[in-house]
Amino acid sequence: MLGLDRQSPTLYGPDSMNVLVTGGCGFIGSNLVHWLRKNRPTWTVVNLDKLTYAGNLENLSALEGDPKHVFIQGDIANRELVDHVIRTHRIDAIMHLAAESHVDRSILGPEAFIKTNVLGTQVLLEAARHAKVNRFLMVSTDEVYGSLGPTGLFTETTPLSASSPYSASKASSDLIALAYEHTFGLDVVVTRCSNNYGPYQFPEKLIPLMVINALNDKPLPVYGDGLNVRDWLHVEDHCAALTTVLEKGKKGGVYNIGGNSERTNIVIVKTILQAVGKPETLIKYVQDRPGHDRRYAIDATKIRTELGWQPTFVFEKALADTVKWYLDNRTWWERVTSGAYRQYFDSQYKARLEKH
Ligand code: NAD
Ligand code: TYD
Repeated sequence: MLGLDRQSPTLYGPDSMNVLVTGGCGFIGSNLVHWLRKNRPTWTVVNLDKLTYAGNLENLSALEGDPKHVFIQGDIANRELVDHVIRTHRIDAIMHLAAESHVDRSILGPEAFIKTNVLGTQVLLEAARHAKVNRFLMVSTDEVYGSLGPTGLFTETTPLSASSPYSASKASSDLIALAYEHTFGLDVVVTRCSNNYGPYQFPEKLIPLMVINALNDKPLPVYGDGLNVRDWLHVEDHCAALTTVLEKGKKGGVYNIGGNSERTNIVIVKTILQAVGKPETLIKYVQDRPGHDRRYAIDATKIRTELGWQPTFVFEKALADTVKWYLDNRTWWERVTSGAYRQYFDSQYKARLEKH
């Protein structure tokens, strides 16, 4: 069941295809798996995830018994396993999201970032090349561009200037993916997206961390002066953009994805406090993150004009809905933060995991 038409500039016909999503149990990955099952119901989604601290199969419990979602626990850096998965499931395209994703953790310990983000990506690319996979979507980040001053936007031609071990590892994998296109002719497309928010985000990232600390009446740690700026995008808009680039992006193309929603951190924190009815006295300014990028902002003209994608969520309303999701899903984040979801995983899913 090959869903790809190699001749056509629009890659996918209406028939089914098998897509490998790496990191499909993480924040964006699990939203993407849900999004694809809903919006591309004929596709089979094969989900390869190591289940690090950030991966949670419980995010996908609604898909239990769905024959078009296949979960495989494993490491993208394991070439034998990756070859086996691509061959056994006759993978047509790869959407590569698996990564170590948190800047603060990369400052505490960069090694895992190099292993997964750099070496793991190269293993996947090599396996894709040998298996002649039709398309490889490299999910990169706007952080590869480094930091902006008070004005200006990142475009796809902004030079890469990564600052943290996380962003440097992503810049490496981004460039290695493009090198596989340039050198070996592998059909690679790259996306560079701004900060996401929405359901199932691990509570180490700004928005869920602040919501949960506020609900627990704990201090809200704001780094530096709180005036760093991020350009926020709802995760479902990101999922739609990734699928658009997979389907319609030009071979070797790079696409910025952003939400036109620049906000300072302190504004976000105060909005969250208001939403949960807690006092601003909970805000605690703390020592800044080393090498903290000041501002990110995306020019997404290319994906809008060339591929017809644009964000649909309105930030203030979608942030309020996201806060409500965390209020309504207290058991989810209590389990995630306590590590109890690992027991859930063992008792509910272990027997269902594919054997290799
Ligand atoms: P996440 O940390 O929530 O999830 C990462 C997932 O990858 C987890 O399920 C984890 O178990 C899995 N994983 C980690 N190492 C693995 C390995 N070696 N083999 C297989 N699976 C492994 O991350 P996220 O926020 O969902 O980000 C997903 C991707 O999107 C990353 O590549 C990230 O760089 C990129 N991105 C994220 C954002 C954002 O705002 N979160 C913005 C732009 C780009
Ligand atoms: P984060 O969610 O870690 O994403 P990234 O660093 O990849 O942009 O952080 C978003 C912003 O929030 C960033 O400027 C750092 C800041 N921040 C805090 O002020 N306090 C915190 O506890 C965290 C986690 C982040």
